[in-house]
Amino acid sequence: MTQQMKAAIINQYGRSGVLHIADIDRPTPGPNDVIVKVAAASLNPRDWLTMRGLYQARKSLEPFPITLGSDFSGEIVQLGALVSNFELGNKVFGMQPLRGKFGAFAQYVKIDATAIAAKPDGVNHIDAAAMPCAGMTSFQTLHNIAQVKAGETVLVNGASGGVGVYALQIAKALGARVVAVCGPDNADLCASLGADAVINYRQENFEDHTTAFDVVYDVIGRSGPKRSAGCLKPGGRYITTIPSVKTAAVAARSWLASKILPGKRKTSHLVLVKPQPADLDAMAQMLLFGKLRSVIDSRHDLNDIEQAFERSQTWRARGKIIIDIE
Ligand SMILES: NC(=O)c1ccc[n+]([C@@H]2O[C@H](COP(=O)([O-])OP(=O)(O)OC[C@H]3O[C@@H](n4cnc5c(N)ncnc54)[C@H](OP(=O)(O)O)[C@@H]3O)[C@@H](O)[C@H]2O)c1
Repeated sequence: MTQQMKAAIINQYGRSGVLHIADIDRPTPGPNDVIVKVAAASLNPRDWLTMRGLYQARKSLEPFPITLGSDFSGEIVQLGALVSNFELGNKVFGMQPLRGKFGAFAQYVKIDATAIAAKPDGVNHIDAAAMPCAGMTSFQTLHNIAQVKAGETVLVNGASGGVGVYALQIAKALGARVVAVCGPDNADLCASLGADAVINYRQENFEDHTTAFDVVYDVIGRSGPKRSAGCLKPGGRYITTIPSVKTAAVAARSWLASKILPGKRKTSHLVLVKPQPADLDAMAQMLLFGKLRSVIDSRHDLNDIEQAFERSQTWRARGKIIIDIE
């Protein structure tokens, strides 16, 4: 008989009342997968967007019941036949790719062994589980897309949320001067994470700062390439995390224009995070050596996961929301 486990599942889409803790079959690994006993998981807006049926990649999801959850940290308890990069008992962390996969809000998660990284012993499961999606999104934005150089000025709009707290610290680690945009209650948090200046968006519009920034990282998607154009320096980069037909089209047009008309143009980009073990490794080392910290908004038991979803849907999280599984 298949062994059972506890998991947070939905059998239909909805705003509330659709998320349940149920006993379901434990996953079994495909040849390239591992099964991880989850110690902690973290919540991302994509989890509740999926619960509501609003997730962009909804068509790629498996049929109901869907076990939600992307990010986790835990211990490998089963290996697929072709897995050679990990052993039983290894502590690992990671995230499911954006299309079609979830399953971390459960006692056991199945994941492709090429998508995860080893968790250093000196980093706890909470800090590791907090990082994958939010941390990698900012890492890939600032390293790969914006290619931030020391001395540049990076503005992070939405600096106190899950993605923003990593963005701020990674931009600082790259040698940038960092301007954080957040509400009045989070100015101290952003300053404590290294922000050189803080803009309270309730009192001031960062778009009014003419030619001030090399990079506008619009984590929360409240601005746009046209609105941000005036505050970018020549050669400035605007990057949004919000995938839509419009943001994808603007990014594609910007890419094409930069190829046809090279020079110090302002460019627009859309980040779509990809699980990359090398990026996870790099950030785990930063956590280990105190160059980065995970900011934890709140912790919730798996049985109380609805409270965690309610909290995330307020858009008021300070850093990451954790689900304790073990
Ligand atoms: N494309 C990708 O690959 C990718 C990957 C990860 C996330 N995302 C997307 O990125 C977005 C942010 O994710 P997240 O995890 O950071 O969300 P989150 O943690 O829920 O964001 C909460 C934060 O948003 C801030 N906020 C709310 N309204 C704001 C405003 N008008 N201006 C500035 N800040 C505001 C809040 O700060 P105050 O309380 O101070 O207002 C709070 O700290 C989501 O839409 C998510 O789906 C995309």
